[in-house]
Amino acid sequence: MAPLFFFVFVFVSHVQSQALLSVMEQHVELSAFNHYVNSSSTLTSLFSSANNITLLAPSNAAFQTWLSNRSPTLSSDQIEALLSYHVLHGVFPTVSLSPKPQFASSFLTNTSYANVTSGQKVEFLPTINGDPQIVSGNKSISDFSTKDILFTGGLIQIIDTVLTIPLSYELLVTQANLCAADANLVNAVLYRPNMTFFAPNTQEALAAFNEIAPNMSQSELAGAFNYHAIPNFIGYSSQLKSGMQLKTAQGTNVTITIQGNTTFVNGAKIVTSDYLVANGVVHMIDG
Ligand SMILES: *[C@@H]1O[C@H](CO)[C@@H](O)[C@H](O)[C@H]1NC(C)=O
Ligand SMILES: *[C@@H]1O[C@H](CO)[C@@H](O)[C@H](O)[C@H]1NC(C)=O
Ligand SMILES: *[C@@H]1O[C@H](CO)[C@@H](O)[C@H](O)[C@H]1NC(C)=O
Ligand SMILES: *[C@@H]1O[C@H](CO)[C@@H](O)[C@H](O)[C@H]1NC(C)=O
Ligand SMILES: *[C@@H]1O[C@H](CO)[C@@H](O)[C@H](O)[C@H]1NC(C)=O
Ligand SMILES: *[C@@H]1O[C@H](CO)[C@@H](O)[C@H](O)[C@H]1NC(C)=O
Ligand SMILES: *[C@@H]1O[C@H](CO)[C@@H](O)[C@H](O)[C@H]1NC(C)=O
Ligand SMILES: *[C@@H]1O[C@H](CO)[C@@H](O)[C@H](O)[C@H]1NC(C)=O
Ligand SMILES: *[C@@H]1O[C@H](CO)[C@@H](O)[C@H](O)[C@H]1NC(C)=O
Repeated sequence: MAPLFFFVFVFVSHVQSQALLSVMEQHVELSAFNHYVNSSSTLTSLFSSANNITLLAPSNAAFQTWLSNRSPTLSSDQIEALLSYHVLHGVFPTVSLSPKPQFASSFLTNTSYANVTSGQKVEFLPTINGDPQIVSGNKSISDFSTKDILFTGGLIQIIDTVLTIPLSYELLVTQANLCAADANLVNAVLYRPNMTFFAPNTQEALAAFNEIAPNMSQSELAGAFNYHAIPNFIGYSSQLKSGMQLKTAQGTNVTITIQGNTTFVNGAKIVTSDYLVANGVVHMIDG
């Protein structure tokens, strides 16, 4: 068996010493992805020099599904933005992706697409069966199809669904409560970089709000909106700690309390956490 052992040894060390672009070329299921990278000098140079990164590379099948749902005429800027969202700072082997959710920074920093200063994030979410998933904008899920492919500067994870660049909060939450306030008063907060938003989003919470809203002035509505927004802090669930005081855009603080698996903001319970948006994160609350 000595020759086989020798072969394996040579093969492994050969792969480890290879640059990202040549490893990508060896995977036929990445030809669509390679084509996009080849078409952009910005991406080619990013990929040539990339070090300490994880590349989430959508398979050809992923691109096929993705293209069937939209106009195929993407501008080169849009391609660059989308692909840079698939490149993460740091090396994330699948074995490192449990047991807790993790948020990784991508290379997407163009403010036309994202206002998360450290780079728009993706969430790695461990699942019950142990296979991690990737959550991107609009809670879109990508699964790993080929794991942990080595290259000199890090790892490639081949994924089965193209990531979704997170939308603005306004596009995510189009309910009456947000629209009720004067756009001029809330826009400054809505589009500011590095935000955490708490969005009342149960029937009871919306009904309670709709009852009092007609009697509120525009500035009271804006104050109510600002009381649900935290500037200069991106409070992904992994970041929230019990007892934490967060200063709202309205000026006063809210308090985070964690009891068991449940997180409260003052008295309101977080019912769904971690909607990634263009400038941070949104948690849905029940009050
Ligand atoms: C990308 O460009 C290289 C060099 O120009 C070429 O060898 C390769 O075939 C191209 N790959 C694709 C998928 O277009
Ligand atoms: C950011 O995106 C916009 C819109 O797609 C584009 O015009 C601009 O050149 C991009 N900026 C950089 C630095 O890539
Ligand atoms: C790799 O990137 C991660 C995430 O940005 C960082 O925490 C780590 O220090 C980097 N490691 C090296 C060796 O540069
Ligand atoms: C980022 O912020 C700038 C200015 O604050 C704003 O014009 C832009 O629309 C924001 N980008 C996104 C994707 O929301
Ligand atoms: C977000 O996801 C929902 C359900 O998964 C879908 O119906 C909706 O069209 C998506 N919105 C966008 C803007 O992609
Ligand atoms: C709102 O104002 C109307 C008219 O002034 C009043 O009848 C109603 O009770 C008020 N509703 C609330 C919830 O305060
Ligand atoms: C943006 O938020 C991140 C994470 O909370 C922080 O590290 C960074 O310094 C912030 N940048 C600005 C300009 O506020
Ligand atoms: C409000 O929260 C900020 C940020 O955590 C903290 O520095 C400040 O002391 C708090 N203010 C009050 C009145 O609790
Ligand atoms: C709370 O977390 C524990 C352990 O993580 C889990 O077993 C339990 O089902 C969770 N409870 C709820 C209500 O989610």
